[in-house]
Amino acid sequence: MSVTHVPEADVLRRQDPELAEILLGERERQATTLQLIAAENFISPAVLAALGSPLANKYAEGYPGARHHGGCEIVDLAERIAVDRARALFGAEHANVQAHSGSSAMLAAYAALLRPGDTVLALGLPDGGHLTHGSPVNFSGRWFDFIPYGVDAETGLIDHDQVRTLARGHRPKAIVCGSTAYPRHIDYAFFREVADATGAYLIADAAHPIGLVAGGAAPSPVPYADIVCATTHKVLRGPRGGMLLCGGALAERVDRAVFPFTQGGAQMHTIAAKAVAFGEAATPAFAVYAHQVVANARVLAAALEGEGLSVTTGGTDTHLITADPAPLGVDGRTARGQLAAAGMVLDCCALPHVSGTDVTAAHARGLRLGTAALTTQGMREEEMARIAALLAGVLRDEIETRKARDEVRELTLAFPPYPG
Ligand SMILES: Cc1ncc(COP(=O)(O)O)c(C=O)c1O
Repeated sequence: MSVTHVPEADVLRRQDPELAEILLGERERQATTLQLIAAENFISPAVLAALGSPLANKYAEGYPGARHHGGCEIVDLAERIAVDRARALFGAEHANVQAHSGSSAMLAAYAALLRPGDTVLALGLPDGGHLTHGSPVNFSGRWFDFIPYGVDAETGLIDHDQVRTLARGHRPKAIVCGSTAYPRHIDYAFFREVADATGAYLIADAAHPIGLVAGGAAPSPVPYADIVCATTHKVLRGPRGGMLLCGGALAERVDRAVFPFTQGGAQMHTIAAKAVAFGEAATPAFAVYAHQVVANARVLAAALEGEGLSVTTGGTDTHLITADPAPLGVDGRTARGQLAAAGMVLDCCALPHVSGTDVTAAHARGLRLGTAALTTQGMREEEMARIAALLAGVLRDEIETRKARDEVRELTLAFPPYPG
């Protein structure tokens, strides 16, 4: 796909050259730098086409066959296909594909199961929990009483004993398992057992690993959680958006928690794009992709450790790696800036047990990176080793920024995200 040559880009260039320049500039940036942000990917031309389609014009409050607006008979078909494909892909009795984002999906899950003031157990933010897992600057922390569990200081793995003890002591209404920065598989069976023993609902926030689940490269939370929340735009390689999966018994509560409780009209172009992405994720080629994402991440993690960074938990089971660059003499935020100048785009993050209690300083400590986008571009183990060496060379001041930038450009030219 070439954005410069599709008619829509020509139209935009004629009508609004200022915006056209920005779009083309971003396209260039994505194609000539390395997208190491763990939550990002390159969607396919077919998903892009659905997103840019006239379905964007349609108002469709409600659900297929029961809409507030007229003229929904065609978009209803798109939503039914998206729901059917999501159910088949994840083996779920029910799917809601209307959530506008991962955070909206979490909001709807809480709305379906909780009342304001209820107690919820979730991974603490410094240990990899997401904003929606009880941050004081998020609705979750304001409206619910979150009790954080953590990871073990030695191993970096979720402290199961602590989860069990806190659940027994606090009797939460819900337990959230899932993370924005935990590189290992979640033991969903363990969390189900604790939830059952303490009378809690189990909400799995699988925003990150859901694409690996689709490709058979990570365990599925669907058999264990009461509600699974997910994003569709990370490894899953769909449009920016959210999704909820649950059993038939909670289907109506979940649907009503999304619309009309927390959202208005569904975004039908995004839902059509989700349907396309679910179709792609059901193919054998996607399973190969998902496994390669993990293989690449394992090699990248090992190579980074070999270069002297301290990799949390000593490696990864997924697409995601967190690491402390301190042994190379920099903190995460400084490293992020230096690497961005060299064309390597990644995030800084908190690191469990080393970041301290100052929130701003904590988020500047570590680095979070992933392999979903690089793998979509066709990069393999060999390129991961090369990237790790380049990254560490820049942080150690052994490779000049300009030289690293040239090498990144050369690499991206060999692996264009949208060939041709
Ligand atoms: C674990 C987790 N939950 C929820 C979200 C929220 O997704 P969104 O940014 O689409 O609201 C994220 C996003 O990164 C996440 O990592």
